Amino acid sequence: MSAKYVIGNRKVAIIGAGYVGSSIAYALTLRDVAREIVLIDINHDKTDGEAKDIRHGIQSMGTADLYAGEYSDCADCDLIIITAGRGRLPGESRIDLTNENVKILRSVIDSIKQYYTRGVILVISNPVDILTFKANEWMGLPNGVVFGSGCILDSSRFVRCIADYVGLSTGVINGYIVGEHGDDQVPVWSRVTVGGIPIEEYCKDMNLDWNKDIREDIAKRTRSMGSEIIREKARTHYGIATCVCQLADSIINQRPTIASVSSVLLGEHGVRDVALSVPSVVGPAGVQQRIRERWASEETRGFFDAVENIRAVLSSVN
Ligand SMILES: NC(=O)c1ccc[n+]([C@@H]2O[C@H](COP(=O)([O-])OP(=O)(O)OC[C@H]3O[C@@H](n4cnc5c(N)ncnc54)[C@H](O)[C@@H]3O)[C@@H](O)[C@H]2O)c1
Repeated sequence: MSAKYVIGNRKVAIIGAGYVGSSIAYALTLRDVAREIVLIDINHDKTDGEAKDIRHGIQSMGTADLYAGEYSDCADCDLIIITAGRGRLPGESRIDLTNENVKILRSVIDSIKQYYTRGVILVISNPVDILTFKANEWMGLPNGVVFGSGCILDSSRFVRCIADYVGLSTGVINGYIVGEHGDDQVPVWSRVTVGGIPIEEYCKDMNLDWNKDIREDIAKRTRSMGSEIIREKARTHYGIATCVCQLADSIINQRPTIASVSSVLLGEHGVRDVALSVPSVVGPAGVQQRIRERWASEETRGFFDAVENIRAVLSSVN
């Protein structure tokens, strides 16, 4: 099996047409990111309904050819997105989903492998770092072709919270969450900038308070945002859909970007054989490079805690 990076048909397969998969299909359609989108799910009727509903929107707001299909439609895709699997219930952690969703992932990967010809595989289902590691192992493709959305959503929430604090739009804030898409996420405060200026300097110039309590409050709100939304509406799907849209655009339309996504590390920060998020260059070949940025010592310690905890979970998975 080989991964060829022939770009041409702008075809995407989405495995799992639940809240997350359908929202991704809708976002990709609205933004005209893909030309062809195939939705694949064990519940064919629901999938057909979702495809028809999105497809029947007004043509000027998206012209993708969207349909409910089969695993054989995974052939010749530029991108295959995996969202199949159960979501968290209120009070559950993402790690609590491990056994159930690893089993579902195994059957999904076995089915994809029968028809896979090329393209990037993007894992969204949780726990995303564990599932990314297993999908990478089972697909046997070059490093980075299989990767997970990881901390892109957490980073987006982080930027939103900082933007709200400084009273600016999110576009001028640059900052990343690294480590686990879960409780062991690490905000890289030492690298956060506002309009290219380190945040501490910016706040000082603007006479805005900036201290440990404010940082801890933003970090805590970022970390607990997923659970909070699940408590309020039982699921999260719009936020991740727009994050995936950005990643899909970088892959399908060759517009490389930088995002904190999860891939199997090959010695970066002295770590290997575990999938976790670091800021990475994402383009037509998936994760094309992981950025080796320097972090403050407590940030590095937090990242190593995530490594240990994810390794412990991985060792319990077949
Ligand atoms: N990475 C992130 O940032 C992020 C954000 C939100 C949700 N999620 C995760 O995404 C996953 C999906 O969430 P959701 O809200 O869409 O759940 P959902 O229950 O609405 O949808 C899951 C879908 O998977 C399908 N499915 C189950 N087994 C399958 C199989 N073997 N083959 C094909 N399809 C199968 C189901 O029929 C269902 O339609 C969950 O694991 C959730 O935790 C991840």
